[in-house]
Amino acid sequence: MAKSSKIRIFDTTLRDGEQTPGVSLTLEDKVQIANKLDELNVDVIEAGFPASSEGELKAVKRIVEEDLDIEVCGLARTKKEDVDSCLEADVDMIHTFVSTSDIQLKHTIEKSKEEVKKSVEDIVSYINSHNVRCLFSAMDATRTDQEFLKDIFSVAQKAGADAVNVPDTVGVVSPKEMEELIAKIDKAIDIPIDVHCHNDFGLAVANTLFGVEGGAQQVQVTINGVGERAGNASLQQTVMGLEYLFDKKTNINKKKLYETSKLVERLSGIQILPNEPFVGNNAFSHESGIHAQGVISDSKTFEPDMIEPKMIGHKRKLVPGKHMGKHSVKEILKNAGLEPNKEELKEILDRVKEIGDKGKRITEADLYTIAEVILGSEAEKLIDLEEIAVMTGNKVTPTASVEANVDGEKKRASKTGVGPVDAAIKATQSLVSNFPEIKLKSFKVEAITGGSDALAEIIIEVEDKQGRSVSAKSESEDIVKASVEALISGVNMLMAEKRREK
Ligand code: KIV
Ligand code: ZN
Repeated sequence: MAKSSKIRIFDTTLRDGEQTPGVSLTLEDKVQIANKLDELNVDVIEAGFPASSEGELKAVKRIVEEDLDIEVCGLARTKKEDVDSCLEADVDMIHTFVSTSDIQLKHTIEKSKEEVKKSVEDIVSYINSHNVRCLFSAMDATRTDQEFLKDIFSVAQKAGADAVNVPDTVGVVSPKEMEELIAKIDKAIDIPIDVHCHNDFGLAVANTLFGVEGGAQQVQVTINGVGERAGNASLQQTVMGLEYLFDKKTNINKKKLYETSKLVERLSGIQILPNEPFVGNNAFSHESGIHAQGVISDSKTFEPDMIEPKMIGHKRKLVPGKHMGKHSVKEILKNAGLEPNKEELKEILDRVKEIGDKGKRITEADLYTIAEVILGSEAEKLIDLEEIAVMTGNKVTPTASVEANVDGEKKRASKTGVGPVDAAIKATQSLVSNFPEIKLKSFKVEAITGGSDALAEIIIEVEDKQGRSVSAKSESEDIVKASVEALISGVNMLMAEKRREK
């Protein structure tokens, strides 16, 4: 790894990210994520820790076989057998690490500082003799005696390491301290420095950025900030911060940030918050009247002026809700082909606020329905639900049949699923398979009341091929019925928009 003007992005979603409590990726999941990281154009991926299990070795080998354009790295302790597993997987780079802080030396590896230095010298020379790039990490570096840290990095450099990594393993450093520490290490060695920050104090991204300010040339990050405990520095936030606030360049294909985040969210099962910077549902959404009015006129009024959502593959959205004003009602309805006059607009807005004040969520479908009633222009429904029947049990595969009037024709579809809701949603989707451009983008269940007769609220979002989306909801004590009704309502709204357009 030569010193370069661009900051190198080392993604460890598949290694530290997979160490997130509760996350367990299959081999296929890992290959899919590795390919997406290749499209995102990170510089290196840490594909896993081959010595940790047979399955892990197999997965790293498989990722290497994908023959991606990016470098593939494997993790190894300072043990020959770990390095041999990485060599067996045929990785481009080996990331070897050892504890260096007093507390970890005493309680985890039980070695003296001299023994640790010797193990680093031996293992780095061993890796070097196999013509593979070597990255050396001093685990718990930010709590390590700084003289010892510089010393051990010099040993690694002398033995042939291509770069050294400074992990803030327990996430306790502050941005200023990180900058100073990296600057000191940079003076002591000639090879590039990499930083790896954990988010225990919510400072992983800030510490990474200030590590770069101190002279780091590579950053270890994960998609959505997944990782041990509170996670690692988020790739998306770090890259955007580097490029737009710190005037640094990376090789990242930023248009792929949103879809990569969504893929990792889906496969890891770790849901990102709506207010997650850049990729969260609310990152470019506006509900309040003042903000929406400003954004309709010029998005820079209430968004960072150097960023457009499409730069990262996301979308701006005006969201209905009790804080909305007439400008956003008008704009949202205009997109649906509805143009209320001044009085009608006021009536619609009053109705929305009345519902919102009762603590109810308002989806786009609700807003359209209110507007249609007030305008007296109820669009003919494409789908009218007639009957749902589900069957489920211990030995029975959950199956659902849905009957509906679809565009004037009586239709019925039966599907199986992982549960009755999944089966019913699949059956409904197959009823509208004549309209393949519509897909279910999100599906959320919320219990409004408690108990086995709880009222469930289903909120869905459907999207057409042009990327236009509509949210809709339905409430019922019967979760299957509410799911199907919400989906049908969303599809009807989207199709009504299309029909009005025509
Ligand atoms: O947090 C950490 O110290 C690590 C090392 C393996 C770099 O993940
Ligand atoms: Zn870590």
